[in-house]
Amino acid sequence: MSIFYVTPITVEDYRRRARRRLPRFIFDYIEGGANAEVTLEKNTSDFNRWQLKQRVMRDVDSISTSTSFMGRDASMPLALAPVGMAGMMAQRGETIGARAAQAKGVPFTTSTVGICPIEEVQQAINAPFWFQLYMLRDRDLVLKLLDRAKTAGCDTLAFTVDLPVAGARLRDFKNGMLGGGVKGKISQLAQIVSSPLWAISVGLQGKPHTFGNLSDEVADPNDLDNYKSFIDAQFDPTVTWKDIAWLREQWDGKLLIKGVMEVEDAKSAAEVGADGVIVSNHGGRQLDGIASSISKLKPISDAVGNDIEVFVDSGIRNGIDVLKAIALGANGVLIGRPWVYAAAAGGQVALENLLDLFQKEIATGMALMGVNSIDEINSDLIELID
Ligand code: FNR
Ligand code: LAC
Repeated sequence: MSIFYVTPITVEDYRRRARRRLPRFIFDYIEGGANAEVTLEKNTSDFNRWQLKQRVMRDVDSISTSTSFMGRDASMPLALAPVGMAGMMAQRGETIGARAAQAKGVPFTTSTVGICPIEEVQQAINAPFWFQLYMLRDRDLVLKLLDRAKTAGCDTLAFTVDLPVAGARLRDFKNGMLGGGVKGKISQLAQIVSSPLWAISVGLQGKPHTFGNLSDEVADPNDLDNYKSFIDAQFDPTVTWKDIAWLREQWDGKLLIKGVMEVEDAKSAAEVGADGVIVSNHGGRQLDGIASSISKLKPISDAVGNDIEVFVDSGIRNGIDVLKAIALGANGVLIGRPWVYAAAAGGQVALENLLDLFQKEIATGMALMGVNSIDEINSDLIELID
């Protein structure tokens, strides 16, 4: 460890801190992608295929990063993406995420497979947040979850469509956490023992470690095998657009379809009455070898952007990436790993700092692009490098 204190100013700074603090199997679960992680890598590197345009002499003395999406005002075009088991990464991770998001004026999304129950998140902030849902085979359970989300004041439902089955996250097998048997368990214990800060603040003080939204249905989240078995058994691979039409009838709040990568699918989402789509490859965790999310954004926004809102996630790591996404037609972006790295590294304070950093980068970028408002950012301000 260095004796010099370095102020974290990038996602990478928080990633390094999180890596030092977390047991290896948890860090790998966050960090990893599917198979050879080709798509995971493209998600970030493909942002370099586009360049923004610098515009000068435009009076940029009244910059505002604020905007509105999914029916609400936000301080910037960004939301926190659903991350399963965030409460195993930071102490009561979902409440930390919700509190920081509320303090900084952006939406927080809690996952179906969160550790903190929806009600605990509600009590932490007492304001609307977003709920992410997977289609479970047991439709009564789906209805029960929708009801709980509504009662807790969730106004937007992000329905994830890119996980009919779990992707092949090879790191989870490699380090013995999936299918590792007794050896895997011993290795897990050794990793916990060598991560004392995590063991105390999350392992002990962050209890209870149950899947708060599914505590009657799933056993111990400390065991990734249990978790995988639950996904295999309960996530419904038969789901089609007809089920979304059914869901649309059950949910009268805003409905966002998360995990759309092709124009035809985005059109189907609009047709069944969704209010928006999230162009996402699940952070490169599902089908490896597909395109980056950012490279699919513009065609989708061109096709459905006049009818529904369009968001993008996967690979957004700084304010410049956010500006590129807006210029390519997004109403906003979601960040997954970045918020969890910050929360794991330094809790709510770190996450608030990260959100400040994003906002400052967006504001500075806007000034240098010659715009004062998010509305003014469009495809005239970006170009594809050939
Ligand atoms: C996710 N993601 C996710 N998505 C979802 O709809 N429900 C979930 O429970 C989870 N869980 C989850 C866990 C972890 C550890 C990660 C890293 C991601 C996907 C997430 O919402 C988002 O799409 C990606 O994380 C975006 O990519 P970046 O920002 O991580 O590159
Ligand atoms: C994941 C699931 C939970 O990406 O969405 O790990």
